[in-house]
Amino acid sequence: MYSNNIYKAIKRALVFAFGIVVVTAMISGARAVERVPGPQYDNQGQLKRTDGWRQWVFIGAPLTPNALNDGKAAFPEFHNVYIEPKAFAQYVKTGEFPNGTMIAKELLSVGETVAVSGNGYFQGEFQGLEFAVKDTERFPDEPGGWTYYSFGHALPYTNVAKAFPTEACAACHQAAAAEDMVFIQYYPILGDAKPK
Ligand code: HEC
Repeated sequence: MYSNNIYKAIKRALVFAFGIVVVTAMISGARAVERVPGPQYDNQGQLKRTDGWRQWVFIGAPLTPNALNDGKAAFPEFHNVYIEPKAFAQYVKTGEFPNGTMIAKELLSVGETVAVSGNGYFQGEFQGLEFAVKDTERFPDEPGGWTYYSFGHALPYTNVAKAFPTEACAACHQAAAAEDMVFIQYYPILGDAKPK
């Protein structure tokens, strides 16, 4: 009889403990930002350039040409923007950018302005490579966990890059980008990929 009661008490305690574990997992699971593998850093914390971005998912090519900005555009090049495929797949599923998201922006000069199809702006030379990387765990103090990098403005690009100060890049993104620091208002491909 006595040992039976102890047995019941232990059983109740175990069920209770299991319940706590499940509830805790549910709460932390709901809060945690998903993660995809991707960004690699050297031992000084600089981002290593991940190659293959031209085969990632292409999301847009904004252009603010000198011709439309009194010859003084701040960013006169084409911006070819790509998102790393595992991050894109997660975005398609959840509508959120997971930790480990890498977005590459490669700059191309405006080349020809006349073609058989008509007058226009056509891409010229590769002129620079920038990355935006999200990681709320590695960079809890950066807005949205996003950090910004440049691998230079000429080929060959540098192998590593250090994060810009928050004011240099993140501040403008935070103020003007439509969603989680990313200018999705200019990327209909992302807008369409987002679950409805
Ligand atoms: C004055 C505002 C402003 C500043 C400062 C700025 N950006 Fe951006 N950035 C934009 C806009 C607007 C876009 C989207 C349209 C475009 O590419 O012109 C963009 C797009 C990007 C993208 C593509 C992903 C996205 O978030 O849309 C990357 C990568 C990027 N910027 C990197 C940088 C880096 C690196 C710096 C700092 C050296 C920087 N940006 C500073 C306004 C800014």
